[in-house]
Amino acid sequence: MSITTFAVAGATGRLGRHIVDLLTERGHRVVPMSRATGVDIITGAGLAEALTGAEVIIDVASWHASDQDAATEFFRTSACNLHEYGQKAGVTQIAMASIIGADKATAGFLAAKKVHEELLLSGPIPVRILRAAQFHEFVGQLLDWQQGDVAYIPALPTQLVACRTVAEELVDLATAPAAPAPGTPIPEIAGPRGETMAEAAQLLGARRGIKVVGVDGSGMPDAELAANGAFLPGPHAKLAGPTFQEWLDTQP
Ligand SMILES: NC(=O)c1ccc[n+]([C@@H]2O[C@H](COP(=O)([O-])OP(=O)(O)OC[C@H]3O[C@@H](n4cnc5c(N)ncnc54)[C@H](OP(=O)(O)O)[C@@H]3O)[C@@H](O)[C@H]2O)c1
Repeated sequence: MSITTFAVAGATGRLGRHIVDLLTERGHRVVPMSRATGVDIITGAGLAEALTGAEVIIDVASWHASDQDAATEFFRTSACNLHEYGQKAGVTQIAMASIIGADKATAGFLAAKKVHEELLLSGPIPVRILRAAQFHEFVGQLLDWQQGDVAYIPALPTQLVACRTVAEELVDLATAPAAPAPGTPIPEIAGPRGETMAEAAQLLGARRGIKVVGVDGSGMPDAELAANGAFLPGPHAKLAGPTFQEWLDTQP
């Protein structure tokens, strides 16, 4: 692909910073968009200026907490603004990161991501979606949300993936010359190994001096679906390393 200008919403986030690195390494022009760079995709502040000259938007912005209503409102407004301002700027494509299982979710943050996908797909600009498993980097956030020397983490199955691996896949998708053939399933990217969130958190907890206790997750949104593996990658998913342990070994 020739040099393209990409506007990256959520450029300073866990995933976004890798997207910016990869696009820059590949010689593209990048406009980083986050409140820290003076662009608010919710209020619209700085958005028109940031999108001037952009051809593609990569949307990896996120709401900072798991509350379904607040997250839904965030994604509703961001999807609407990215289409409205993007269309005025002449943007030809939006690529977004979603989460594996969003299509099956009935509650919680995953259900908000389902709305995010639907609203982006309903706008005037063509949209490409990549569904990713939970990030290796997310395990630390789960521990950060708890206090004290003991953390209670759901022993629910997952197939964690590194942000860098997701970023490579999303950049490939956003720069692919041809749109996928109609009927092609939404692509998925996950790590190479199934494990429970509690098992991964135990590995990280051991480094931080936190005892991690696995709990059954009942009371969480869609816990039964999750326990039955409904949010694990499908047969068409791409699986790519590093494993959580390999990734952890590279962390300072
Ligand atoms: N976390 C996971 O395990 C996981 C798994 C699969 C898919 N995903 C998806 O991947 C995407 C990225 O997730 P992440 O974990 O990398 O998110 P994150 O680390 O929480 O980063 C969120 C980004 O959004 C920006 N942002 C928040 N509010 C904004 C606003 N009003 N205007 C502009 N930018 C705003 C933040 O920057 P400022 O605060 O500076 O504005 C930050 O750059 C999300 O769509 C998420 O659903 C996440």
